[in-house]
Amino acid sequence: MLKQLILENWKSFAYAELPLSPFTVIVGTNASGKSNLVEAFILLKRLVSGNTIDASLAGDKTLTPIRGGIDWAALKPEREFTLKVLVDGEGNQVDYLYSVNVDTKPDAEILAEKIIYREYQRDKTKVVFERDIISGYIDSHDYKDIILKISTLYKNARWTLPNHHKSILNYFKNTYILDNITEVNLIISSLEKIFVLNPVPERMRGYSPISKTLDSDGSNIAGVIAGLSTRVRDEVEETLCEYAQGLPAGNIVKVWAERIGRLGGDAMLYCEEEWTHGQIQEIDARSMSDGTLRFLAIMTALLTIPRHSRLIIEDVDSGLHPSRAELLARMLLELGRQREINILVTTHNPALLDAFGMEIVPSVVVVHRDVNTGESKLTRLKDIENLPKLMVSGALGQLTTEGAIEDSLAANRIQDSR
Ligand SMILES: Nc1ncnc2c1ncn2[C@@H]1O[C@H](COP(=O)(O)OP(=O)(O)O)[C@@H](O)[C@H]1O
Ligand SMILES: [Mg+2]
Repeated sequence: MLKQLILENWKSFAYAELPLSPFTVIVGTNASGKSNLVEAFILLKRLVSGNTIDASLAGDKTLTPIRGGIDWAALKPEREFTLKVLVDGEGNQVDYLYSVNVDTKPDAEILAEKIIYREYQRDKTKVVFERDIISGYIDSHDYKDIILKISTLYKNARWTLPNHHKSILNYFKNTYILDNITEVNLIISSLEKIFVLNPVPERMRGYSPISKTLDSDGSNIAGVIAGLSTRVRDEVEETLCEYAQGLPAGNIVKVWAERIGRLGGDAMLYCEEEWTHGQIQEIDARSMSDGTLRFLAIMTALLTIPRHSRLIIEDVDSGLHPSRAELLARMLLELGRQREINILVTTHNPALLDAFGMEIVPSVVVVHRDVNTGESKLTRLKDIENLPKLMVSGALGQLTTEGAIEDSLAANRIQDSR
């Protein structure tokens, strides 16, 4: 599992560590840096999937650009940034730190990549693998033979792009030797399992092709559900219905997807609503409410992405009435646990924070802009000095609406700098 994300000179962050729990909640006011944080995950996933650093940042035919493209990737006025992830090894005694260092000027290129192994009990660390573009150095302590094979491959394979535009992890992945390198495998699989969902109801209203995986905008929700085997589809539709029933004031009595057309290559999403007792109205996705569609997309992601994925959803409660916060919280916690999906959500909604309950406090992270430097900072809610005092005056959610947390953090920083 991913345990931590570390940002150095990434967008509005000069240095920040984001601890990751199975269920992580990020709160922060507008422009505090929540989306910047999420974009770091997007970039890492793109790199490990074999995209060039240019395309990963600036976008291409298939990738949407990361906001601001290459120009706004590094903290102004810096030109380099580094992203690091800490990944759990076997047991809890070992972990691996992967880092990638990128230059953005004049063009985007990967300057260095490194994997470090750490063993806690013996207080031992070792470089598993290191690559430095400037010196042209690629080395590994334990895997000299493998590195030799890879560097030979580099020369012989005539990669269509210069190698400093792609992550070395992808080259490892594409060679038959990967099976032998557990640590590289672990890092690749945990980054590949990042799934950022940003449901766009408008795109979920049409027919969609039968698909294996949900698109990040949820647009092929019908195609994904209809494409499941009958047994799994029945289960998924039943779960969708179970939670969706709590959504409107009336009743959603059934949710399902159906193949359409002669060849059945497309699908449409339907539901049955019962507004007055005994009168059932069948509707298709074209007339479903935005809130319902977003809710169904989130559930479909939780029910269909691979186990142990890290599902990331920004403004998870957007489009949902505050009175449905409890239902959303329960659904995320229950389905996440059932399917062993790690979740990261950002939210502004005080009702949602309260609905998660006090057990969530250890995994809430606050993003705010430092009053002195303007940089984004991350603080665990539980590490905020006067949290107990703040809590006395209101519920968790209320604290975030009134900006009391940010005020308290700002006050501390001003004191620190004196
Ligand atoms: N390269 C950069 N250097 C400094 N600040 C940046 C950079 N890129 C973005 N920002 C700042 O980040 C802020 C937007 O952060 P964002 O993550 O969208 O906020 P949120 O999602 O919390 O509303 C803007 O104020 C913008 O100026
Ligand atoms: Mg945002």
